[in-house]
Amino acid sequence: MQYIIKGGNKLEGEIMASGSKNASLPIIAACILGGKTTTLYNVPNINDTKITLEILEILGCKVVRKNGKIIIDSSNMKKTEIPNELMHKLRSSIILAGALIGRFKKAVFSYPGGCDIGARPIDLHIKTLQKLGINIDEDAGYIICKCDKVVGADLQLDFPSVGATENIMLAAVLAEGETTISNAAMEPEIIDLQNFLNRMGAKVAGAGTNLIKIQGVKNLKNVSYNIMPDRIEVGTLLCMTMITGGHSKILGVNNEDITSITSKLEEAGAKIVTGKNQIEIIAPKKIKSVEIKTYPYPGFPTDMQSVFGAMLTVAKGTSIIVENIFENRFKYLNELKKLGAKVSQEGKVAIIKGTKKLHGVEMNVTDLRGGAAICTAALAANGESKINNIEYILRGYENLDKKLRALNAQIELVR
Ligand code: EPZ
Repeated sequence: MQYIIKGGNKLEGEIMASGSKNASLPIIAACILGGKTTTLYNVPNINDTKITLEILEILGCKVVRKNGKIIIDSSNMKKTEIPNELMHKLRSSIILAGALIGRFKKAVFSYPGGCDIGARPIDLHIKTLQKLGINIDEDAGYIICKCDKVVGADLQLDFPSVGATENIMLAAVLAEGETTISNAAMEPEIIDLQNFLNRMGAKVAGAGTNLIKIQGVKNLKNVSYNIMPDRIEVGTLLCMTMITGGHSKILGVNNEDITSITSKLEEAGAKIVTGKNQIEIIAPKKIKSVEIKTYPYPGFPTDMQSVFGAMLTVAKGTSIIVENIFENRFKYLNELKKLGAKVSQEGKVAIIKGTKKLHGVEMNVTDLRGGAAICTAALAANGESKINNIEYILRGYENLDKKLRALNAQIELVR
């Protein structure tokens, strides 16, 4: 599938942000734990959530999506082996392992390993799950997890991995005793997971700090829950407004989740006005170059690195981006060069020399956020851009073309 973008329009108007992909995935996994019925609101209708729900159905859950909500009944679940072909479609399906072990004390899955942004190892997941008393073997590409019971323990993460933090939380909710996670990831999506789990009757505290405590409980209950807004989608739409010299307002936003993004945008010359669950951005005549280093939350998010880099291709002066989280997250730079961007890479550093104008061209997407970066630059380029393999973008952005047309962009989705 392709996007055809005719660049040059200023993004202007008002749009509602979708629910968070990276909060939805662990919360959908957590629905396995209770063996009850859960109703989720504001889950984005994107490929990653569709695949996760498909896996739950294959494992025996009843899933109904109707008028904006998803009802998941996990009472009749029996299977604990995640289908191979679906594991390969979804990097983050490792999250299901923690929930399956938490409830059934076993899980079997294959691990897809590397992708276009890095090796994506799971050593931190394995090491900490083993400390909870879970036997983990590897046989012919399958990872087999099982235990008689999950026993709470004091865990230390070598790196504040988002997925490993979430996996431990899911495995420990029904464990015997208390589990602590030191050097836990502090992303807002982890707070959303904690809020959901506690709504179900779990006893989790500390999410949003680097020390999380989980007191095991015996049962969980039916709940309904509203997923937090997608802070990376919001940041993406803000950068798209910036590069087109526009003025837009985004509704349904948790402003406290995006301060590292908005402060960098202000450094680049944006005027930002925040209101209750909304943010307004007015682009400057000329974007200023900035220096960015990606870090775990609350640092500048790696998921925003590529979109910000695209925006800086038309800034005044030279910008520097240091990618500290993933080892291969600059592939989009080669595509931006086709538009006339003056970009180069030295290891984990990207150098972006601002240029006056970009010109529309055909480009190829190789990963989700790199794809969003290519769209960002194309929106400001002179003429038409054809963007191939946009299935990657559909994994993580709900109705992006519709949203951009509502903000006055000229973009078409060609199937
Ligand atoms: C989550 O991925 C997000 N995905 C990613 O968003 C995000 O980029 C990442 O966190 C960092 O914020 C979801 O939440 C579904 P990590 P995750 O474990 O959990 C290394 C997007 O575009 N590591 O925090 O996989 C790893 O290689 C996606 O929406 C190990 O070495 O990220 C990476 O270098 C992309 N061993 C670093 O830690 C492990 O066992 C951060 O990974 C696990 C991770």
